[in-house]
Amino acid sequence: MLKTEIEYSEMLSVLGRRLQPNAIRKLTLLLGSKEVISLAAGAPSFETFPVEELADIAARVIRERGRFALQYGPTRGQGPLVESVAAILRTRGIESCSASQIVMTTGSQQGLDLIARVILDPGDVAMVELPSYIGGIISLHNAQAEMIGVRQDDGGIVINDLREKIDRSRSEGRRVKCIYTIPNFQNPSGVTLAAERRNELIDIADEHDLLIIEDDAYFDLYFSEDASRLVPLAALRPDRVVYLGTFSKVLAPGLRTAWLRAPQELAAKVELAKEGADLSSSVLDQSIVIEAIREGLIERRLPELRRFYQVRCAAMLDALDRFAPAGSRWTKPTGGFFILMELAAGTDATAMLMDAIDSGVAYVPGQPFFVDGSGANTLRLAYSKESTEAIADGVERMCRVFTSAKAQAKA
Ligand SMILES: Cc1ncc(COP(=O)(O)O)c(C=O)c1O
Repeated sequence: MLKTEIEYSEMLSVLGRRLQPNAIRKLTLLLGSKEVISLAAGAPSFETFPVEELADIAARVIRERGRFALQYGPTRGQGPLVESVAAILRTRGIESCSASQIVMTTGSQQGLDLIARVILDPGDVAMVELPSYIGGIISLHNAQAEMIGVRQDDGGIVINDLREKIDRSRSEGRRVKCIYTIPNFQNPSGVTLAAERRNELIDIADEHDLLIIEDDAYFDLYFSEDASRLVPLAALRPDRVVYLGTFSKVLAPGLRTAWLRAPQELAAKVELAKEGADLSSSVLDQSIVIEAIREGLIERRLPELRRFYQVRCAAMLDALDRFAPAGSRWTKPTGGFFILMELAAGTDATAMLMDAIDSGVAYVPGQPFFVDGSGANTLRLAYSKESTEAIADGVERMCRVFTSAKAQAKA
């Protein structure tokens, strides 16, 4: 008999069955058109987009070089852009960055997906920070890696915890392949990996023959010159590190233009994986970024951009000082977009979210960022989207919800 009902679930691959909705995107759907102060949105503020300049550049690129900019392009990316990225990497102290080591990607997110697929077999272990970036977690999950969380404190990854967990995994016969880290102004915690720990991390990678995936999406968005002097891991040990950077946070994420720098042999594999994914990133987007760099648009705006986010961060820290319930604490970022708040032990940040939304404010509960399922009493607060006034108002409303939930729990 012919089967008329198609069971699509039976057609799925192991990966197809593993795919799960991202907790933050689910929250965005939940918020829908509700008018709330969003301390949840982790995107750059649209106010920072150089709209007029980009409109001029885009028009010029299409008119004057449309026959190239609207065409397919090389998988590795546009030559002049690869050269510009190499120059950017040199300013960050990464000298080992020839064109053969760089692949332009459709956002860093694609870089994470490609490198995970190129190096990980199902069941391989990837060490990740507790908490870590949800997009990185998704890429590792899709590559069917097993993720083991490593504790962080105010100085980033706790080195002893990393050592212990690697040793334990290896003694259980598992294959530990890589460490995924966001060393600067981490998403979601805002924490920065301390200078001395950078060397220790590399020593551990050397000892255990691991690759480090260094996701440096927020490198340029520091609030003080001190914070700008931290050396990338890729500068310290280029042959152990795959380094990812992006134009999303300093120009516009809609351009989906980012890069991955890896030892030559791995970069060649990433290029092959990318060919199967999208042939090449948008040549038009890359051409716009090339012009933006040539005209100095990114460089010129960086000081203003840093001030923009620094002022918002200060407003959020100030509001937390004033309104946060006793027993809570939070990180003090020196750059980036995020603060991680930790409520008293036993508190459930997810359970209070609906009340917060009803009070006109949204945040992201922290648990999905913790691969070991911990973090129920944490939440991620982004200061990147709202004005300073809205941030203060939002934090006050949110803290009122937390304080009244605490009072009810006691009653
Ligand atoms: C740590 C981190 N890595 C990568 C990305 C992805 O950036 P892109 O827009 O380049 O894909 C983000 C975006 O939020 C991020 O926070």
